[in-house]
Amino acid sequence: TDTDNSIAASRGQFATRFAVIAATVGSAVGLGNIWRFPYEAGTHGGGAFMLLYIAFIFIIGVPVLTAEFIMGRSTRSNIFGAYRALAPGRPWYLAGYIGIVASMTIISFYSVVAGWTLEYFIESITGSLSGLDSGQYHSRFLALASDGVRPVLWTILFLALNFVIVARGVNKGIERISNLLMPTLFVLLIVFCIRSLTFSGASEGLRFLFSPDFSQITPSVALGAMGQAFFTLSLGLGCMATYGSYFSSRTPLLRSAVTTASLDTLVAILSGIIIFPAVFTFGVSPAAGPTLIFEVLPSIFHSLPLGPLWSALFFFLLILASLTSTISMSETAIAFFIEERGMSRRTATMTNATVALVFGTLCALSFGPLDGFRIFSLNIFDAFDYLSSNILLPAGGLIISIFTGWVMPRHILREQLSPARRITLTALTILLRYIAPTGIILVFLRSTGII
Ligand code: PFF
Ligand code: NA
Repeated sequence: TDTDNSIAASRGQFATRFAVIAATVGSAVGLGNIWRFPYEAGTHGGGAFMLLYIAFIFIIGVPVLTAEFIMGRSTRSNIFGAYRALAPGRPWYLAGYIGIVASMTIISFYSVVAGWTLEYFIESITGSLSGLDSGQYHSRFLALASDGVRPVLWTILFLALNFVIVARGVNKGIERISNLLMPTLFVLLIVFCIRSLTFSGASEGLRFLFSPDFSQITPSVALGAMGQAFFTLSLGLGCMATYGSYFSSRTPLLRSAVTTASLDTLVAILSGIIIFPAVFTFGVSPAAGPTLIFEVLPSIFHSLPLGPLWSALFFFLLILASLTSTISMSETAIAFFIEERGMSRRTATMTNATVALVFGTLCALSFGPLDGFRIFSLNIFDAFDYLSSNILLPAGGLIISIFTGWVMPRHILREQLSPARRITLTALTILLRYIAPTGIILVFLRSTGII
């Protein structure tokens, strides 16, 4: 349409339906699925976590994701502009600041993990990562994470890659990487799943992940599962609203939300099926935490013919998957700087990059020289992760659901979802008005011990 064309010319827009899905799935699928999901599931009792996680994805995640798409596309603007256009003269837009803080916090620790991945990629190529036993993989990873120099250099290198791509703008940068990446990653994950399922610990691993022990469902497991659901869907900070603002007027929003959530969940589950059988085969603790996949994956790769090749290919794809996610975080902050603060794209990118470099460095040092610096007994890295995933994103999502359910003019929902059936609109409205806010508030209150 004409509006689409003029928007495409001024703010950039995704060219095809496939590019829309590729970019949103590219944002969603990343370290959250392959690194964070297994580590959170592992520290929160496996099956109990899994059950709540799936529930949160589909009962809260999909509605809030659709709501973000609606806010972005109906206003063609970042989350601040969206709040302001939909509720002029009212302070709802202030909620956008939660998203900006969250995007900066997340990119800081995320880049550290992507940096570890860079080193593992290089070491796969040089061959120095193969042929060790699982105890050696353990000490090798700890040596990297606690080093005072290497993690910082890798983090900086990763951020440099990210910001070079971001500086070039929406269409060129994001679409190109996303289109090839996901299918290839998927094939690789299937291969590793098959390998893991033949390990002696396979049934124990699958039981751990898929058979919930209901006595393990505690408020802190629920908070962890809710945080993971938000984190993995890039939800609650306005990132998906920003991407929604680039959608064509023909993109079906609800269907895109369901597709994104389903593919994202699939990748997380595949990752769990790869990690936990290996955990129980190689005698690693499922509750190892952020180090889990870096200790376990090399053993899996080493057990395959042509191990270093698989290993290099996998870590390479994981870097690309991380990039498509950090690009979307940066894009959220940059759209804010440009459209709300009147910066040029260049200044906006530099501002975002500077903040990420400073806080990324602090996170990179927090398993080594800065390990003693604790916030509520968490190191900087873990504190950033906890704050953003478990608090900021769900809080942002809470406000988005209340806003789109109660405040935003009703006809916008209808228009943006048309030609949706009436029952779909009713169901989504109930989810946004009542179920999502109650769910989020309940988990918050229970986990702080207030109720
Ligand atoms: N969803 C991404 C992942 O699972 O790796 C992480 C993420 C990307 C969070 C973008 C937030 C965001 F804005
Ligand atoms: Na994800």
